[in-house]
Amino acid sequence: MSVTVDVPETVTAALADQQVEGQVCLEAGAGVGNTTAGLLAAGAKRVYAVTNDADHAATVRDRIGDGNADRLAVVEADLRETPLATDSVDFVTAHGLCNVLPPAELAPIAAELTRVAKPGSRLVVDDYAVPPADAAVNRLFALENAAARVVDGRPALTFYPPAVLAAVFAANSWTVERRKTLLDPVPWTEAHLDAHAKVVREYAAGLPDVVGGPLVAMADDVASAIGSERTGTMYSLAFRLADV
Ligand SMILES: C[S@@+](CC[C@H](N)C(=O)[O-])C[C@H]1O[C@@H](n2cnc3c(N)ncnc32)[C@H](O)[C@@H]1O
Repeated sequence: MSVTVDVPETVTAALADQQVEGQVCLEAGAGVGNTTAGLLAAGAKRVYAVTNDADHAATVRDRIGDGNADRLAVVEADLRETPLATDSVDFVTAHGLCNVLPPAELAPIAAELTRVAKPGSRLVVDDYAVPPADAAVNRLFALENAAARVVDGRPALTFYPPAVLAAVFAANSWTVERRKTLLDPVPWTEAHLDAHAKVVREYAAGLPDVVGGPLVAMADDVASAIGSERTGTMYSLAFRLADV
């Protein structure tokens, strides 16, 4: 088993009580491949790592592709409509995916994940709870969402309470089997906050200077004023799909 990438503790903790060995897995929203690496390290038979971001797909291939070609398929696709066959996957993971999905995408993606999952299969959804009202990071996230709404007409970030995600998947015949806290508090490091300020810069690049300039200046000021912050929680929900 050739996986050399460090797997974050949140991923290891979320997968610890799940059957991964020998399973056909779908990692929904591959990002830079942390959960894909965790699934491969835990003995997955095959992992479909799906992302709609070409840079992320390339990063996953670079980080994890070597030595795993027989078990890893990086799929560039929209999770609302994947090329995967119906009833073809034993285990679905969505680690840190839902917070980057606007509400209108949640239901179609839940339906598509359900279509490709075999009856009786399992799903783990890990995400951030709504940050506390007094969290300083909210100021940076609000600027990120303001920039995203102006450019794309949709928010960049939406934090869903676990009960909301449980209800969205329950509507597709998934039952929650366990709930777990992965982080309490969440350590929002300087690197995390810089990454969020960078997103504001990327949106601002598509705006006239008179709008983009102040947004970037505010995001940089807020990120450097916060520095880092420990606040909020990250949770994990494990589901099983009805067997019929
Ligand atoms: C924050 S990252 C997830 C991190 C990753 N799961 C991990 O464990 O490292 C979110 C990922 O979801 C992808 N994504 C967001 N919306 C998507 C969609 N509609 N279809 C496919 N991928 C999507 C993004 O491109 C990105 O790769």
